[in-house]
Amino acid sequence: YESLSVGELAKKLGKEPSEIIKKLFMLGVMATINQELDKDAIELICAEYDVEVEEEVRIDVTDLEIYFEDPEEEEEVPGELTERPPVVTIMGHVDHGKTTLLDSIRNTKVTQGEAGGITQHIGAYQITASGKKITFLDTPGHEAFTTMRARGAKVTDLTILVVAADDGVMPQTIEAINHAKAAEVPIIVAVNKMDKPAANPDRVMQELTEHGLVAEDWGGDTIFVPISALKGEGIDQLLEMVLLIAEVGEFTADPSIRARGTVIEAQLDKGKGSVATLLVQNGTLHVGDPIVVGNTYGRVRAMVSDLGRRVKEAGPSTPVEITGLSDVPFAGDRFVVFKDEKTARQIGETRAGEALQEQRVEKTRVTLDNLFDQM
Ligand code: GTP
Ligand code: MG
Repeated sequence: YESLSVGELAKKLGKEPSEIIKKLFMLGVMATINQELDKDAIELICAEYDVEVEEEVRIDVTDLEIYFEDPEEEEEVPGELTERPPVVTIMGHVDHGKTTLLDSIRNTKVTQGEAGGITQHIGAYQITASGKKITFLDTPGHEAFTTMRARGAKVTDLTILVVAADDGVMPQTIEAINHAKAAEVPIIVAVNKMDKPAANPDRVMQELTEHGLVAEDWGGDTIFVPISALKGEGIDQLLEMVLLIAEVGEFTADPSIRARGTVIEAQLDKGKGSVATLLVQNGTLHVGDPIVVGNTYGRVRAMVSDLGRRVKEAGPSTPVEITGLSDVPFAGDRFVVFKDEKTARQIGETRAGEALQEQRVEKTRVTLDNLFDQM
């Protein structure tokens, strides 16, 4: 669907138009029943419902993804759902230690185990703790939530909220909590900078209680882990807690189907052309797969892991850097693998054409950009 009116979307979702209008209003958009919504706005609304009624929306979102799919294509035979690694983002106030924590996790868990493995910087990486894999998105958590959710992509399973023990809850801490809550993503609190003499973890616990995050010790159900990202202390306990939540969450995927997922980041490389970091969310991505990514398409020419190694395939929750796309996609774009290159090309070209056309269409419609302007 290039676009749908509010009324049509409501029908597709099996909701009252008034409810959709209310949702849009909550997003800061005044809409009428006949208002045309663009793809991104549609996906945004779907993401809203994904949050509330996951099962139901699975179907709805697939339905709305038809513009992405080959109508003639036979149904894919699904395989078995198997456990997949959790996808984790790190959020928190400026200077509370997000980057230091990401580095600390990567250094202790990746470089150490992989002798000589030089981590190249890609927007996501995977580590192994207690024999289990965990995927970290190396983009600021806020970005992962806003850009990607706005495009209808739900990429993160849980979030680590970093709060500096010497500084306490700050505005962006609260913002982060709201993002995670809106997406119904579980939060683990990492009380950082415990090595500092001024560290006051009780104060952090106290302040977070006011925002609905009550520590287990205080009768709540939020996990708090004291850490020092700088000194690498408490990191193992933190990762244990991530695995614990993952176990409860039972994150699964079907590795046997054609891959689909989300673009984490992408850029144009002088030598390699379009280079995109993809997070495979379902299925398995292979070198040679015909793929549509956002409004571009191609065939996966080469895949490189987060450790800079060439790989031939990537399963669920695995981040990989790929080349072979005809153009540079955007962070948050969805990707889908097709059975043959001809189909991928057709759909890719149609979508690229539509995107061009859309740019020309006057801006009276609700687009993602003015959605955010109004937020
Ligand atoms: P932004 O990306 O700017 O939002 O900051 P950030 O949250 O990524 O913080 P960053 O990791 O850059 O850390 C900010 C400062 O705090 C740096 O000087 C770090 O060295 C310091 N820092 C981070 N973690 C710790 C810690 O556990 N203990 C101490 N003492 N300092 C820390
Ligand atoms: Mg940082």
